[in-house]
Order: sequence, then C-alpha cells, then structure tokens
Amino acid sequence: MKTALIFGVSGQDGSYLAEFLISKGYRIIGIIRHNSSNEIPSRLKSIISNNKKQLILKYGDITDTSFIYNIINENKIDEIYNLAAQSHVGLSFEIPLYTMEVDAKGTLNILEAIRYSKKDIKYYQASTSELFGGLPNSNFQNENTMLYPKSPYATAKLYAYWITVNYRESYNIFACNGILFNHESPRRGKNFVTRKITKGIAEILNGKKEKISLGNIYSLRDWGYSKDYVEGMWLMLQQETPDDYVLATSECHTIKEFIEIAFSYVGISIQWQGKGLDEKGYDKETKRLLIDINPDLFRPNEVMRLCGDYSKAKQNLGWEPTTKFKQLVYLMLESDLKNEMGVTIGEYNKNGKKF
Ligand code: GDD
Repeated sequence: MKTALIFGVSGQDGSYLAEFLISKGYRIIGIIRHNSSNEIPSRLKSIISNNKKQLILKYGDITDTSFIYNIINENKIDEIYNLAAQSHVGLSFEIPLYTMEVDAKGTLNILEAIRYSKKDIKYYQASTSELFGGLPNSNFQNENTMLYPKSPYATAKLYAYWITVNYRESYNIFACNGILFNHESPRRGKNFVTRKITKGIAEILNGKKEKISLGNIYSLRDWGYSKDYVEGMWLMLQQETPDDYVLATSECHTIKEFIEIAFSYVGISIQWQGKGLDEKGYDKETKRLLIDINPDLFRPNEVMRLCGDYSKAKQNLGWEPTTKFKQLVYLMLESDLKNEMGVTIGEYNKNGKKF
C-alpha cells in the first residue's frame, strides 16, 4: 500500500485528492492547521467517517520546519502533494509577507526535508496559471509561456515553481509542478468569484440576500472542475520522469458570462446597464437589481486573461478535462440551491419560484 502525505488536505483540492487516492488504495496522512476548536474540517467529515483506516489527520503547518522534518522522517512516504497555501490572490495584496512565508518558504521547507531525508519521495507542487500574469494577450498559455506574476501571491508561487525545478535538477528529486488554471467545484471557498456568484444566487432566490456585489467582471478565466484536476496531479507522479504540466480546459469566459449563464439556469435573464463602476445587472423581467460593482473589490493589479493549452498533459499523461464551463456552472449552482433551499435546479424551476 502506498502512502501519500497531503499538505492542505482540508481545502477543495485536498479533499478531492484524498477521495481519489483512497479509491486507488492509498493510505493518506493529511495535514491540517491547528485551530482552537480542533473540529474536523467540514469538507473532510464524511470522507473520514467512511475511511478511518485510510485517512489519518495530523495537525501541522508548512511554515514549521521541525514539524516538516519529523513528519517526513518518521513515516514511510511515497508521494507528497503540497496543496497548502494562502491561495487568495486579492488577499495577498493585504498580507504579502504571510503569503510569502507560506507559499514560497513553506515549499522550500518541504523540499529541504525531502533532500535531507535521502528518501525516494515523489513531490507535487501546486503551481498556478497566475504565474503567467495574463500574458500574452492572445493565444493560449502553456509550459513555454513567459512568466510574469502580477500579485504577491503569484510572485511567491513563482519562487515555489522555480525552487521545485531547481531541486529536481540539483538533487535529482522527482518533483513536478502542476500549473493549474482556475478549478472550481461545490467545495470551492466562498470568497472565490464563482462560488460567490452561485451561493449568492441561491441566497437571493431564498430571500436572504438582495444582490451580489463584485469587482472586475471583465477578466477572462479558464475554469475547470477540481475533481478532474486532482487526477492530473496524481498522473504527474506516476510517470517515468518528472516534469511540469499545464492543466486547463482551453475554454475561457468572463465573470460576466459566468453570471449570465448561472442566472439563466433559474430562468432569469440579466440586463446590463451603465458602465465601469456604475454598471449594474437587472432581472430583465422584474427589473430587480441583482448585480452591482464595488470598487473595494478591484485588485491593485489584475490578471485579465487566463486561457490554458493542456496539450502536453493530454499527450504525455493522457489527461483531459471531463467537465467544461456550462456543466461546471450548473453543478455548482445546483449544489448551492440544494444547500440553501433543499431543491434541485429542475425542481426550483418547476415549483419553487418565489420572487
Ligand atoms: N474573489 C473575487 N471576488 N474575485 C472577483 C470578484 C469578487 O468579488 N469580483 C471580480 N472578481 C474577479 C477577480 O478580480 C479575478 O479577475 C477573477 O474574478 C477570479 O478571481 P478568483 O475567483 O478570486 O480567482 P483568481 O483567478 O484570482 O485565482 C484563483 O485561480 C488561480 C489559478 O489561476 C485561485 O484559486 C488561485 O489560488 C489560483 O492560483
């Protein structure tokens, strides 16, 4: 039985990866950060209750050097997945030092521990399409695209990317960067734009919220499904030689398009009026205000266009996304409607329309 160590197991990707590796027969040591309540994080509750023997949770932090050394030296580990990060781009402008400590130095801590352990451990680094900074303005971004980070988050991740390549080349460590474009799911954190929109719509329909306030709705993103992407992470570590891979869908859309599609699933057509900070989205039929712009949600520097070319992953790993944009929006909205009102989209459209 193989053992995988997952840093960041309680996040969206960590929880899907844990489920995926359990299905492959792995034993998993999942690292979660200390918290005062010591409760099992919500994303892991059902996974752990069904798989008590295969998933072992331990408290720890990738900024804690001695913890990292001990956990790697005291256990037999085949694969390490570093998914732990301060992953919010906007927030990184407010907490750049913390972001650097976790996202850059935390990565080096793990690589150093692998190096000194002298063990044959494969390492996966969660790199990101944010490294491209939206360049070039046309065409798709792939493994050969110039890197141009535009936030403290992306700059810290740039260090993590290169130190992973450097340890692979210098010390012959089997280390891979997964350069993942945006990937979402019903388990996505509420502060990321996709989930903010689907959860916001469910709350509006349930009468709990008036409208959704957003920042820049013109950036383009390549949104895939997290569940597909964790399989790609695993595939990278099953190859003969370590390498870096883009995972994406090659379909990109604006935030505005995400909003329009999501509302259309519950029979609401959005009518836009005004420009810039005054732009507003109304229900075409009832004229109710549903979307407005909050200048505080704009970032000091924005990545305008992320569209990935995943042909290397397709060719070498045999990886392809199964869930694309429209289906992804549907499954996220469906999940939020169920959480909020206990109905599916179909049921809501049939009987539940309230406002
Ligand atoms: N979060 C957020 N909240 N974003 C908003 C909002 C809002 O209210 N309004 C507009 N946006 C815009 C952001 O400015 C950005 O252009 C876009 O929506 C997507 O923002 P996020 O969902 O926060 O994701 P991200 O693209 O910045 O970063 C995500 O993807 C990266 C991979 O490309 C994160 O998951 C990163 O950790 C990941 O590396």
